[in-house]
Amino acid sequence: MKLVIASHNIGKIAEIKALLADLPITLYTQADFGIGDIPETASTFVENALLKAHYVCEQTGLATLADDSGLEIEALHGAPGIYSARYAGEPANFVNNIAKVLTDMHGITDRRANFKTVCVFLKHPKDPSPLICEGIWRGEILSVASGSAGFGYDPIFYVPELACSAAELSFETKNSLSHRALALAHLKQQLQKILT
Ligand code: IMP
Repeated sequence: MKLVIASHNIGKIAEIKALLADLPITLYTQADFGIGDIPETASTFVENALLKAHYVCEQTGLATLADDSGLEIEALHGAPGIYSARYAGEPANFVNNIAKVLTDMHGITDRRANFKTVCVFLKHPKDPSPLICEGIWRGEILSVASGSAGFGYDPIFYVPELACSAAELSFETKNSLSHRALALAHLKQQLQKILT
């Protein structure tokens, strides 16, 4: 099977490719088909993931996987949430996004947060039963960024069970614990049925 990943996010694509590496599928990304950024106009992760999956699936005619994800901070009532990629404004910039979160969280003692992802798989553009899987990774917001691995908000996301930031984890360790790993593990179970 050929599968297109509906994303331009290099960090996200690398994680998804590694997580799906053991499946008998050939992976592409929307860039391979010259598809540009897709405006995320909906108000929930699941709707945005469906919107991206449908667009790329229609354009390519191939099975498509889209993932809409973000950081949800308790004390900020779930912000940045679906606005994670552009929290500090356009163009999307991780350094500015992290700086804005640290400013917003200054002086706040409740540091609880989680990464969330919703993955959507469409077999074909008119697929009436998309596979939809969610993954949540719980942690806390650091007051100072730490580490240089990963992408996005990883340097300020503290992982209590390993006592370090997500950006201090190896690629393999992050990919065994993360929200994306959890969502794709569920999705893979369902995909196996389609592939066999
Ligand atoms: P999306 O492309 O609309 O799903 O945007 C996802 C945004 O959420 C990314 O650009 C990051 O800012 C953030 N994000 C999602 N997953 C992760 C992760 O695993 N680590 C760090 N930031 C993430």
